[in-house]
Amino acid sequence: MQWKSKITGTGSYVPEKVLDNSDLEKKVDTSDEWITERTGIRQRRIARDRQTNSDLCLEASRQALHAAGVKPREIDLIIVATMSGDMPMPSTASILQRKLGAPNAGAFDLNAACSGFLYGLSVADKFIRTGASRKLLLVGAELNSRFLDWKDRTTCVLFGDGAGAVVLEPTRGRSGILSTHLYSDGTLWDFICLPGGGSENPPSLKTVREGMHFIKMKGNETFKVAVRTLEKLVLSTLKANNVEPSELAMLIPHQANLRIISATARRLRLPMDRVAVNLDRYGNTSSASIPIALDEVARAGRLKKGDYVLLEAFGAGLTWASALIKW
Ligand code: ACO
Repeated sequence: MQWKSKITGTGSYVPEKVLDNSDLEKKVDTSDEWITERTGIRQRRIARDRQTNSDLCLEASRQALHAAGVKPREIDLIIVATMSGDMPMPSTASILQRKLGAPNAGAFDLNAACSGFLYGLSVADKFIRTGASRKLLLVGAELNSRFLDWKDRTTCVLFGDGAGAVVLEPTRGRSGILSTHLYSDGTLWDFICLPGGGSENPPSLKTVREGMHFIKMKGNETFKVAVRTLEKLVLSTLKANNVEPSELAMLIPHQANLRIISATARRLRLPMDRVAVNLDRYGNTSSASIPIALDEVARAGRLKKGDYVLLEAFGAGLTWASALIKW
């Protein structure tokens, strides 16, 4: 039997500070009713002033390593999926490596926005399958609150901060990652973007004045593409593995909007008690949403050995991605 990669430990962390919809009513022209009905979000977590993305990574990583029974020194590769790293350079993965004390690891970041964790899982899976890595730490972490325009009601109500981590190791058993699937449509890059601060629009008084360092999103246009695309994606992922929707034990979707999640679940004829949902408590934590949800369901004992678990995400790029796991 060929080598596969297996998740041997999970961990997650969200900052303590809770910002609920009624707090946002005081900042922008919005209402708890609008946010709850249109998105399903009730609260989100906001990092402390001096807390960094790598601090969030560290908390989640320690938990995942503990769950896997792996010491930081044993890790040979660290991948951080993020669009809100500590700084453009060096990578947040290298900063995490120092904080964690994992001197024997290579380290790099990867950015596929909200699809980042699943892009990372796909890359990690290849490293493990080829024997290039034997103990890999993959983290999805975001400090979205630093990139929100708190005067823009169309975006500031949606996002939150948090981190989730997994440890991956090789296995020859039946459990493990069965397949991963990555897609992108760069022609729709401007549906969700943060246009300032890169080499196209380096930081300047103009970029700051024009609010180019904030997340911008064409929400409604994105919504329509997301629903259509994810419905196709989940069915094609199951088909690629000859698994029927009825055999699925759990769907772990990216947490952007409860209406998108419910539409995907309906397409699979999956009852909502087999769908992981945490956006009511954390909002959209981008690349952190899937590993946080995975950690929550794993720790709650909702995943049994041999269960089929489907992961799917959609985000800026536009990008979308999926993975089927036999737990
Ligand atoms: N409070 C009150 N009213 C609001 C708010 C708000 N917070 N935000 C928008 N509105 C208003 C709009 O101004 C508009 O008013 P109008 O009709 O007078 O013009 C009305 O509500 C409807 O706005 P829509 O944008 O059409 O609302 P929609 O139902 O599409 O919901 C939302 C918006 C929640 C953003 C939804 O479109 C969505 O979830 N989109 C997908 C997001 C997604 O999946 N993103 C991918 C991941 S993110 C990443 O990768 C970084």
